[in-house]
Amino acid sequence: MKREITLKVNRLDETLTVDDADTLLEVLRDRLKLWSVRESCGVGACGSCTVLMDGRPVSSCFLLAVRAVGYELTTLEGIGDGQRLHFIQEAFVEQRALQCAYCTPGFVLSVKALLEENPDASDEAFREYLAGNLCRCAGYADILNAVHAAQEKSKAVMI
Ligand code: FES
Ligand code: FES
Repeated sequence: MKREITLKVNRLDETLTVDDADTLLEVLRDRLKLWSVRESCGVGACGSCTVLMDGRPVSSCFLLAVRAVGYELTTLEGIGDGQRLHFIQEAFVEQRALQCAYCTPGFVLSVKALLEENPDASDEAFREYLAGNLCRCAGYADILNAVHAAQEKSKAVMI
């Protein structure tokens, strides 16, 4: 069944007609052209489609768009100021924590969520929190370096 819904995405209200079966990933990427939201496994197991829903990471491939009504949705496009990278993105670039970068948006958003939840998160907490984000280039050591660099930056910058 088709219905008109309004999603709040990156602080903007987006009204569109969707099918009940449309996933949030399909709507964000295919309809709203938010290319940072990426499909890989399609079954909620890899984190490449991660977006924030009221600040918490969710797998958008595993969530129907109609279930996202009423929540604040944030994609990678929504975290910078349009002029410069968000400091977590800067940390990933500075630490060269990306190879193909397919997984990077999901990692950046998950790190943002954890730093907001627990600015003093331990290395173990990061590893646990990021367990749902997979990097098929296996760049985990550099990613963890970027996570710690981002945590340092967060002490000086408002997230
Ligand atoms: S594509 Fe959504 S979790 Fe893998
Ligand atoms: S950098 Fe290629 S999947 Fe992570």
